[in-house]
Amino acid sequence: MNPPFKHVWIIGASSGIGRDTALAFAKVGIKVVASARSQDALDALVKAGGGNIRAFAFDVSDRDATLAASDAIDLQYGPIDALLFAAATWNNSKDSQASTSVIKPVFETNVYGALNAIEAVLAKMKRRQSGHIAIISSVAGFRGLPNAMAYGASKAALTHIAEALKFECDPFGVVVQVIHPGFVKTPLTDKNDFKMPFLMSSEAAADRIVNGMTKGGFEITFPRRFTWMLKVLRAMPYALYFPLITAATKQSS
Ligand SMILES: NC(=O)c1ccc[n+]([C@@H]2O[C@H](COP(=O)([O-])OP(=O)(O)OC[C@H]3O[C@@H](n4cnc5c(N)ncnc54)[C@H](OP(=O)(O)O)[C@@H]3O)[C@@H](O)[C@H]2O)c1
Repeated sequence: MNPPFKHVWIIGASSGIGRDTALAFAKVGIKVVASARSQDALDALVKAGGGNIRAFAFDVSDRDATLAASDAIDLQYGPIDALLFAAATWNNSKDSQASTSVIKPVFETNVYGALNAIEAVLAKMKRRQSGHIAIISSVAGFRGLPNAMAYGASKAALTHIAEALKFECDPFGVVVQVIHPGFVKTPLTDKNDFKMPFLMSSEAAADRIVNGMTKGGFEITFPRRFTWMLKVLRAMPYALYFPLITAATKQSS
């Protein structure tokens, strides 16, 4: 495995997919700067990373802190040539999510956090005419799903942002990728109280991400059998989609 970059910044690296991807990159000799809010979890990751992982804690929903983190990382460790945005928060409340008070905190991290991170690296990458930005979205953003309005809308926005960003970055030689995972066992999905089809380990998800960021191509998606089923659902007419999801949700609860 020989990724086309040497220095990756992973935001959302203190647990789950981001953490295991940091370890997977470190294993193949890539230098990783691991970020999240939890300093203790990042310190433990640094210990596990065999000298290839450094920690830089901050809150990505804070724009000033994110821009300052990017500059400080460049100064301390050298320029970042790849960004993996893996931070997210989730609200699976069965109460109505159709409220700013529910949606805003999810968007602050998942969408505005991603935009803060992109802003923090984009101008520098464009100036260098090289760079790599990978954004973890989700199949949950493909279509509206029950009890997932806040998270799903944030992920639909992320996929849209990645698509639009690709047009902007292509002329500068900056690679943009979107990652659409299915269900992966992490602290995020440990909160779910329903059966998760095709549940993967986060180590397996990390391998797919490292592989996908090495090979290139706009979309990285896994596990394929599940995500292709969701792509069929995405293309389905509403008259079929709503009864099918209503029935499937009843069965799995
Ligand atoms: N697990 C799945 O089935 C699944 C499926 C599809 C997509 N995804 C996506 O995959 C990515 C990783 O998810 P995961 O399942 O690995 O979840 P996770 O274990 O909960 O990890 C989320 C990470 O985001 C960090 N984070 C949250 N808010 C932050 C903030 N304001 N500033 C900085 N870091 C913040 C968390 O660290 P701190 O709390 O320490 O800040 C943590 O490191 C997310 O984008 C998620 O939406 C997951």
